[in-house]
Amino acid sequence: MKPPRWQHDEFRHVGADYNDPELARAYDSRHERFRGDMAADCDRLLDALQVDPGSTLVDIGCGTGTFAIQAARRCARVCAVDVSPAMLAVARGKAAAAGVGNLTFHLGGFLTYEHREPPADFVTSTAALHHLPDFWKLIGLRRVADMLRDGGVFYLMDTVYSFDPAEHARFIDAKVEWFARAVDAEFGEEVETAFREECSTFDWVMEGLLARAGFLVERADYTDGMLARYVCRKGSASHRIPSR
Ligand SMILES: C[S@@+](CC[C@H](N)C(=O)[O-])C[C@H]1O[C@@H](n2cnc3c(N)ncnc32)[C@H](O)[C@@H]1O
Repeated sequence: MKPPRWQHDEFRHVGADYNDPELARAYDSRHERFRGDMAADCDRLLDALQVDPGSTLVDIGCGTGTFAIQAARRCARVCAVDVSPAMLAVARGKAAAAGVGNLTFHLGGFLTYEHREPPADFVTSTAALHHLPDFWKLIGLRRVADMLRDGGVFYLMDTVYSFDPAEHARFIDAKVEWFARAVDAEFGEEVETAFREECSTFDWVMEGLLARAGFLVERADYTDGMLARYVCRKGSASHRIPSR
């Protein structure tokens, strides 16, 4: 179904252009320079979430599919969703090479993906939600809650600001410099672009959005002043805090 004309266009990339095939091809090797062994990292997360061979999982903003592929090895069924055809092309190639058959890829995002399967046990998303402005984050999070069964788990990792805004210039300069050194100058520019154009929000805003989308935040970890990890459980309808 075509979205209404007033809906935010999540296929128009803000900040880094994930539709660029060059960027998509280089994504894993560049990210491994500061994220380390990403497949091992995904396995640690899957352990922590306690997925099992009967679990169903949706990964939104799957990028090149590293997490979705590791999840498919340990779950009954995985749906991997992204707005970028270029990232999905890389992910599909990796999944074919890995020989996982219980993983499907979907072109879509927080606002447009239609989950046409039974409600999932888990929804996960890493480093993707900050592409939406705050109002549309809430709409996207409510849609995530609708994809989950009652009591299902939503794991969210994203760039969320917990640094002191009074120190923003010093903080941002230091981060840009750190990433330029850890990866390369071009990645430093990508981080600059992210601060300038992407829509990362404050920790207290994100906690409010999660509560208003109907999630109980069971765990919130903030690291480096700009990264957040949340383990949330979908509450019953009565848990959803009214938006007004
Ligand atoms: C920084 S990458 C993260 C990829 C992967 N999850 C990871 O952790 O490596 C951000 C991804 O989010 C996707 N994205 C951007 N806006 C999105 C949206 N509204 N819904 C779903 N995915 C989105 C981009 O296409 C890109 O693949």
